[in-house]
Amino acid sequence: MSSRLNTLAATPISIQDLFASEPDRLSRFVLREGALRADFSKQAVSQAVLDALIDHARDRDLIGWREKLFAGAPINSSEGRPVLHMALRGVGGRESVRSEVSAMKARMADFVDHIHREGKFKTLIHIGIGGSDLGPRLVADGLSAGGIEGGQGAKMDLRFVENIDGASMNDALVGANPSETLVIIVSKSFGTQETLMNALAAREWLARTLGDKAGKHCIAVTANRERAIDFGITADHIFDFWDWVGGRYSVWSAVGLSLRLCFGTSAFDDFLDGAQAMDVHFRDRDLHENMPVLMALMGIWNRNYLGYGSQAIIPYSRRLRKFSAFLQQLEMESNGKSVMRDGQEAGLTCPVIWGDEGTNGQHAFFQWLHQGSPGAPVDFIALLTDHEGRPDHHKALLANCFAQSEALMVGKSDAVVREELRRAHVDADKIDQLAPQKTFSGNRPSTTLTLDALSPFALGQLIALYEHKVFVQGVLWGVNSFDQWGVELGKVLAGKILSELGEGRERDDMGAHDPSTQALIALFNKAD
Ligand code: F6P
Repeated sequence: MSSRLNTLAATPISIQDLFASEPDRLSRFVLREGALRADFSKQAVSQAVLDALIDHARDRDLIGWREKLFAGAPINSSEGRPVLHMALRGVGGRESVRSEVSAMKARMADFVDHIHREGKFKTLIHIGIGGSDLGPRLVADGLSAGGIEGGQGAKMDLRFVENIDGASMNDALVGANPSETLVIIVSKSFGTQETLMNALAAREWLARTLGDKAGKHCIAVTANRERAIDFGITADHIFDFWDWVGGRYSVWSAVGLSLRLCFGTSAFDDFLDGAQAMDVHFRDRDLHENMPVLMALMGIWNRNYLGYGSQAIIPYSRRLRKFSAFLQQLEMESNGKSVMRDGQEAGLTCPVIWGDEGTNGQHAFFQWLHQGSPGAPVDFIALLTDHEGRPDHHKALLANCFAQSEALMVGKSDAVVREELRRAHVDADKIDQLAPQKTFSGNRPSTTLTLDALSPFALGQLIALYEHKVFVQGVLWGVNSFDQWGVELGKVLAGKILSELGEGRERDDMGAHDPSTQALIALFNKAD
């Protein structure tokens, strides 16, 4: 925390007033890069606050950390690894890394060509969870926009299986013909319980029809080749990625193989190019004109100085409706930490990330956003092009998006509400009761991101923007954004409890658990 920022935060800021007191606000708070425009002007951040936030970032050596990131220094310190997902889009990394990446891209392009030419496979089942699922799923939706610019339409019926809940597998198999189905098992570790159980189930399903030819229908994408081979995948069916690609940053790697198969190599390359444009922007732009930096700083201000505990993400696009789920992993798994790199306690870090598509959310939780306490800053995301051949729908969608950010900021004062009620001949007593309920405090911050179109390029830019935002915030909070120790304990306990579950098993079969957990296990085992 910076004392200068604390002092600034002590004086409430009216966002609307900033437009009057800072006549050049739009030119300073709106940034453009390629197909992406970011409007930060509706944040409760004055020019003085922004300057202080940037000074704070300099004090925390953001520039030095940014250099370390792009130079491939081992900034994932708890695991002793560099963080090089940008090398997958052609930025940073040593010569050896670059040549590994281009060899893998060439191999994938050949494979995609081969599968398309052969024309045998109609259905693609992508098995993976977390980072091996959320990115591909989001991008598959994004690239399937009707008439997408640069996209080529889906070439295969792509289905995802992530959850260990059998429903996930059952849904994916509906109507699928094993002879025409290719299964891609995606797991960085090749040790994730959900993925291995689903992979076994898929292989059994294939083998029931194909016998020992089932293996020819199974592909693995992994950073752990040995485990994939032990599982029974042949070496020529394994596509590697590397330990310097974090799971939640991996959609750009061979993890995107299903997307390449579905949408073509050229659309996927455009997607990589979009991310590259954002990498170069982040690496080279001055902090004041740097989109990920400004986005991160707005988040720091809202979280650490204005006290907001969550951040809403509202894409006004059905094709981006998975974006908040994707960001939940990207942001909360990266920065949801209470301890800094040096082991010392951290201050407030990552807020809760949540959201849903607009306009649906307007009829659900927007009441809370407008009048709840304390509400949450919102990132609105809108597309300027209609991809669905329904211009009227698109216009109405955008009208709603623009209206919501205006309403959050402008609000509706007590005086205006009272005047409306008086004009409607409401009794004075009733006005006193109703007016506070119909008042909107306003001054609720938001950012509006617009994409010229939902092109693969723009989608790449958008995702890379948030990746770099997460990096900047991690630096300012002092945490390692690239490990995830917090997911381990539950995994270990699940393995232990799995070995204790089984109808008819006795209480003696259970290990030591708290009374509540023991009762739950007994409930399943009917051991009471
Ligand atoms: O449990 C969390 C996690 O390790 C994520 O970080 C990762 O994206 C996901 O599980 C899946 O891991 P893997 O790709 O190794 O199966």
